[in-house]
Amino acid sequence: MKKRVLITGANGLLGQKLVQVLAEEYQVLATARQPEPVISVEGIQYLPLDITDMSRCKELTMEFKPDVILNAAAFTHVDACEEQKELCWKVNVKGVENLALCARKNMAQLVHFSTDYIFKGTDGPYPEEAYPEPLGYYGKAKLASENVVRMAGIPYAIIRTNVLYGIGVGVKTNFFLWVYKNLSSGKPIRVVTDQYNNPILAEDLAEGVRLLLQKSGYGVFHMGGEEYLNRFDFAIKIAEIFSFSRDLIQPITTDALGQKAPRPMQGGLKIEKAKKELGFQPRTIPEALEYLRTQLKER
Ligand SMILES: NC(=O)c1ccc[n+]([C@@H]2O[C@H](COP(=O)([O-])OP(=O)(O)OC[C@H]3O[C@@H](n4cnc5c(N)ncnc54)[C@H](OP(=O)(O)O)[C@@H]3O)[C@@H](O)[C@H]2O)c1
Repeated sequence: MKKRVLITGANGLLGQKLVQVLAEEYQVLATARQPEPVISVEGIQYLPLDITDMSRCKELTMEFKPDVILNAAAFTHVDACEEQKELCWKVNVKGVENLALCARKNMAQLVHFSTDYIFKGTDGPYPEEAYPEPLGYYGKAKLASENVVRMAGIPYAIIRTNVLYGIGVGVKTNFFLWVYKNLSSGKPIRVVTDQYNNPILAEDLAEGVRLLLQKSGYGVFHMGGEEYLNRFDFAIKIAEIFSFSRDLIQPITTDALGQKAPRPMQGGLKIEKAKKELGFQPRTIPEALEYLRTQLKER
């Protein structure tokens, strides 16, 4: 019998890729706040679920009896979290508490997603055991959510990721989409030269999750891309692959840009553990961008 996997936030970027990657091997229940799914995948059941609604969480998990809950739901807008702290806490911490409780009641594993923004960003890329010291409210809430998962007395995995990019149906913009949209319409962009991470294609993260489930991975895993680079250099790579003018990309420092939430400058994640223990192997940036170029052509 197929294992039963409940996915929250299934209409988000990662959620959509998880549904697609896991559909064949698992009995998947996709859930999100909207009344309907944004993608339809054969054999996938969909039901609305707001993770902050405890009685609905209980009801759905009692009915579906998941073996695994994958929590891809989150309030992910880093600057908005600085201004809407209550909402950020409600979704990113309280929502996770609800899921942890339901996982416990159903003896299910909880797989939760976190971020390199739990680190200070003075000496990244960071290994799993590095000391967390978040700078902004989003990072603080995500760290609190990790602690909720760790303390819940359930089998869990926490997957930290960073600069997730890709194409989805009706998804919130991500770095790739923002650069692509502007450069393809000839609009100049200012991109920071001093924020470093290792961006990952959403499909590669979803594949990492598939491997984690297959190998019954437990504990904390870092999943990012292979290349460690700053946002400006990433934008230049996008321009190169898509033959956009590099002159449209203007370098700027984080200080001059004045984003609302403080950012870790030297963030990013070491991915050796996931590679060694799970066989995780993300695409290189040129490979990932070529993949996206094909996807865009086929649309
Ligand atoms: N994107 C990145 O660069 C990045 C980096 C590090 C870590 N992560 C983590 O990776 C995970 C997935 O991120 P993503 O990029 O796929 O984000 P995303 O595209 O913003 O998807 C998150 C989804 O969660 C949904 N959601 C928000 N509040 C909810 C609620 N109360 N109940 C149910 N669903 C709710 C959102 O839907 P609506 O608001 O439309 O309902 C959205 O579809 C998150 O945990 C995020 O923190 C992402």
